[in-house]
Amino acid sequence: ALSPEEQAFQDRIDAGERIEPRDWMPEGYRKTLIRQIGQHAHSEIVGQLPEGNWITRAPTLERKAILLAKVQDEAGHGLYLYSAAETLGESRDEMTQKLLDGRMKYSSIFNYPTLTWADIGAIGWLVDGAAIMNQVPLQRTSYGPYARAMVRICKEESFHQRQGYHIMMKMARGTDAQREMAQDALNRFWYPSLMMFGPSDKESVHSAQNMAWKIKINTNDELRQKFVDQTVPQAEFLGLTVPDETLCWNEEKGGYDFAEPDWNEFFEVLKGNGPCNAERIGARQKAWDDGAWFRDGLSAYADKQQARRMA
Ligand code: ACO
Repeated sequence: ALSPEEQAFQDRIDAGERIEPRDWMPEGYRKTLIRQIGQHAHSEIVGQLPEGNWITRAPTLERKAILLAKVQDEAGHGLYLYSAAETLGESRDEMTQKLLDGRMKYSSIFNYPTLTWADIGAIGWLVDGAAIMNQVPLQRTSYGPYARAMVRICKEESFHQRQGYHIMMKMARGTDAQREMAQDALNRFWYPSLMMFGPSDKESVHSAQNMAWKIKINTNDELRQKFVDQTVPQAEFLGLTVPDETLCWNEEKGGYDFAEPDWNEFFEVLKGNGPCNAERIGARQKAWDDGAWFRDGLSAYADKQQARRMA
C-alpha cells in the first residue's frame, strides 16, 4: 500500500502533472530517474566515439563538416542530460565515476565497431532512428527537466537521422561496391539496433513501475515494433534487404512479424563482453584522466573567486 505522500504523488502523476526538482518524490522515482537519465547521458557521450572514428576519413569536406556538427550535437545532448540528472542530487563527477567502474551502463549499441563509411550512414539512419522512436514519447515523461531536454534533443536527432539516410541513399545508388558496403552495414547494424529498445517486456525489470510513474510511456516491445514498421519500407526504398528471412507483413496486427535479436549477445554486451566495450571505457577513462588538470584549474579558479567575494 502507498503512504499518504506516495498516494498524493501518484495522483499528481495520474493527473498528468509535471514533477519538478524541488517537489517531494519517492526515493525509487529519484533513483530510477538518475539511473535512466544518467545512462542516457553516458550513451550520448560514448556514442561520439564510433562516429568520431570517421571524422578524419569522411569522403568529402561537406560530409566531414556535417559529421563534425553531428558529433558536437551529441556532446550537447550529453550535457543537457547530465544537468537534468544533477537536479536530482547526483553530480556529474559521481555519475562519471560510476560509468568508469561499471556501476552505470550506456547503450549497448555503442559497443559495435564502425568498419566502413556506410556504417556512419547506418548509424544515422538506424541508431538515431531508434533513438528518436524512444525519445519522442519521452518529451511527455513526468519529470520536467528530462521532458524539456528531450524537446531539443529530438529536433537535432531528426536531422541526424536524415543525414544518415542521405548517406545510405548515395551509397545504395552508387557503384556495386558502394551498394555492397551499404548492405553490409545494414546487415551488421540491424539486430544491434533492435536491441537498443531493451530486453523483451517479459524480461524488462523496470517497465511496470516506470510506466506507472510515467517515466516510460511505452514498453520496449511496443517501440521495437514501431521501429521495424517504420524502417522496413525505408530499406525497400533504398533497394536493400533487411537481414531477416522471417520478416513478413501481418495484416491482422497491422505490423511486421520479425525475428528477435540474439538476446544472449545482448546480455553479453551488457556484461562488458561486446566487441568494443573495453575500448570505449578505455577512451572515457583516458579522457577523464587527461582532463584532470583542467578540472583542477577550474576548481582552483572557483575557490579563488569565492575567497575574493568573502574578503
Ligand atoms: N543498452 C544497455 N543497457 C540496456 C539496454 C540497452 N540497449 N536496454 C536495457 N538495458 C538495461 C537497463 O538499463 C536495465 O539495467 P539496469 O537496471 O542496470 O539499469 C536492464 O537492461 C533491464 O532493462 P529494462 O528494465 O527494460 O530497463 P529500462 O526500463 O531502463 O528500459 C530503456 C531501457 C528503454 C533503454 C530506457 O532506459 C530508456 O528509455 N532510456 C532512455 C533512452 C536512452 O538511454 N537512449 C540511449 C541510446 S540512444 C542515444 O542516446 C543515441
